[in-house]
Amino acid sequence: MQPATIYVPAGKFAIGQMTFIGPCYNKVNVMLIGTLVAPSDYTVSGNGILDGQGTSLWAWKASGKSCPLGATTLEFTNSNNIVVSGLTSINSQMFHIVINAYNNVNMQGVKVNAVRNSPNTNGIHVELSSNVTILNSDIQIGDDCISISHGTTNLWIENYYVTITTILYGDAKLVMGSIGWCNIGSLGQNQHEPSVQNMIVKSANFTKTQNGVRIKSWARPSNEFARNVIFQHVNMMNVHNPIIIDQNYCPSGGCPYQASGVKISNVTYQDIHGTSTTEVAVNLNCSSRNPCSIITMESIMLTCENQVAKASCNHASVTSSDSIQLVINCL
Ligand SMILES: *[C@@H]1O[C@H](CO)[C@@H](O)[C@H](O)[C@H]1NC(C)=O
Ligand SMILES: *[C@@H]1O[C@H](CO)[C@@H](O)[C@H](O)[C@H]1NC(C)=O
Ligand SMILES: *[C@@H]1O[C@H](CO)[C@@H](O)[C@H](O)[C@H]1NC(C)=O
Ligand SMILES: *[C@@H]1O[C@H](CO)[C@@H](O)[C@H](O)[C@H]1NC(C)=O
Repeated sequence: MQPATIYVPAGKFAIGQMTFIGPCYNKVNVMLIGTLVAPSDYTVSGNGILDGQGTSLWAWKASGKSCPLGATTLEFTNSNNIVVSGLTSINSQMFHIVINAYNNVNMQGVKVNAVRNSPNTNGIHVELSSNVTILNSDIQIGDDCISISHGTTNLWIENYYVTITTILYGDAKLVMGSIGWCNIGSLGQNQHEPSVQNMIVKSANFTKTQNGVRIKSWARPSNEFARNVIFQHVNMMNVHNPIIIDQNYCPSGGCPYQASGVKISNVTYQDIHGTSTTEVAVNLNCSSRNPCSIITMESIMLTCENQVAKASCNHASVTSSDSIQLVINCL
């Protein structure tokens, strides 16, 4: 039997809802020559599942053989006004959901699931976008749960709001490596990049993850800043690096000055409690060229093996309204 082909000829076609109903008795090829134009105001809802079938590609990557990067499962790009609710994405080959250059995004009750050793399967990745609300998501994944980043063009972002009420579960294994959860970054890979500001991440639970709330930037020259960020009401359970700023990110070399140009300022950590698997639960490792400024810590209660955990600060000025042991180390 010949495989069926869905053929989109040259041209631009506005599409509404498309439904393909099986059963499929043979391979289905999609041959896309033209452009499918989605409506600009989008609502995606329902309890459906997107399955990226990434398992064999992850195994291929793990074997060290050269292979394609893989596909993003769902990407919204270059438009305004989207509501996504109740969607589940599993086993993406790469990023699960990407919001790229999109304004006014409202995501609710989104679930993302991929096993722990799945490389680069970020849950929700946001860049070049404004007015983004992500509520009540449940993310169990192999890489960053929610990553806030930006593109490489000269674009200024104002009013970047991200509100996250997120329940995060890890699995029982602590995996070492660059696994980050609730990330801002990596910022400042290229010199001229739009900045990140006005973010709130609140009411999140992190369980057995490598990182809790993390801001990272490349150790490279940059004109960028990250400011007005609040991490609030976060519960950590056996997290390796509960609070971390790393401005020395440079996984593949190519950082001649070994200092980040990204200016991090006005970051507030409020009511962050729970357990750390490392003694240094708060690690602010800022740039020697651009120290972190206006870092505020309130009600940070993190322990490691029933002892109050420690803090380490490099090039960061920290203030605190309550005299907690953790913070004293950094004042
Ligand atoms: C973001 O939301 C604010 C307040 O609702 C609105 O004034 C602004 O125009 C929005 N920004 C964009 C880029 O849509
Ligand atoms: C999240 O943490 C809070 C506070 O410890 C707890 O009450 C709640 O049950 C947790 N939620 C989940 C889904 O684990
Ligand atoms: C710090 O950020 C908060 C919002 O996150 C904002 O209300 C406040 O005005 C900022 N402070 C400074 C000094 O910029
Ligand atoms: C801070 O970053 C530098 C450069 O990567 C590294 O050598 C140092 O160990 C880090 N400090 C802490 C406390 O992690």
